[in-house]
Amino acid sequence: LARGVREPDLVGRHVVVSAGGTREPLDPVRFLGNRSSGKQGYALARTAAARGARVTLVAANTGLPDPAGVDVVRVGTAVQLREAVLKAAADADAVVMAAAVADFRPETYAAGKIKKQDGREPDPIVLVRNPDILAEVSADRARSNQVVVGFAAETDEVLANGRSKLRRKGCDLLVVNEVGERKTFGSEENEAVVLGADGSETPVPYGPKEALAEIVWDLVTRRLG
Ligand code: CTP
Ligand code: CA
Repeated sequence: LARGVREPDLVGRHVVVSAGGTREPLDPVRFLGNRSSGKQGYALARTAAARGARVTLVAANTGLPDPAGVDVVRVGTAVQLREAVLKAAADADAVVMAAAVADFRPETYAAGKIKKQDGREPDPIVLVRNPDILAEVSADRARSNQVVVGFAAETDEVLANGRSKLRRKGCDLLVVNEVGERKTFGSEENEAVVLGADGSETPVPYGPKEALAEIVWDLVTRRLG
């Protein structure tokens, strides 16, 4: 094999990747959203396909072109993302949750556009919790040897917060990014540490999101055996 070209070590495997950021509607024209571009999830989907996997990409509001050879399921909200991920996970060897899932959604959806009212302060927006998809997939594995991977962006105590999040979610691997200038949101590059439930720590130097994706699949294939 040429340098840089990987073995097709995911042939016969089905992997599910979520990407992008969910949007939680308030009314027909407004939503609560986040800054996730979807690029890391798309890099994961492309690299898995290149390594021979059948790939289901659950894409939340990304606006990116469908990667070749990948089944793309487009979703909007966290509830829709949950449904699509659980469905695809039923026969998956690995599930990688790269999407930024909104923790909360507005309690009510206004069927008509919310209007200003003269002399009145706006009503507060009441939020309710969204389901935790990563925790659910980790707890109810569709297959005993299914590998589940989460992503976390942290600003402080990156490793300590990552370790406790990994335990809380019950996943096998957690890719932890430090959020800062030029890092993570919308950029082409990423720097991270991949924490393993087995206590392992794999540092990923600053570089293209594709390079981080390859390392994630290396760690996943090792766990698939
Ligand atoms: N995640 C999920 N469902 C949610 C929230 C998060 O599946 N409702 C997943 C994300 O896709 C990501 C991982 O959980 O892979 C970690 O997300 P993060 O927001 O860091 O975790 P939270 O538990 O929401 O913690 P925090 O309070 O720091 O936001
Ligand atoms: Ca969160």
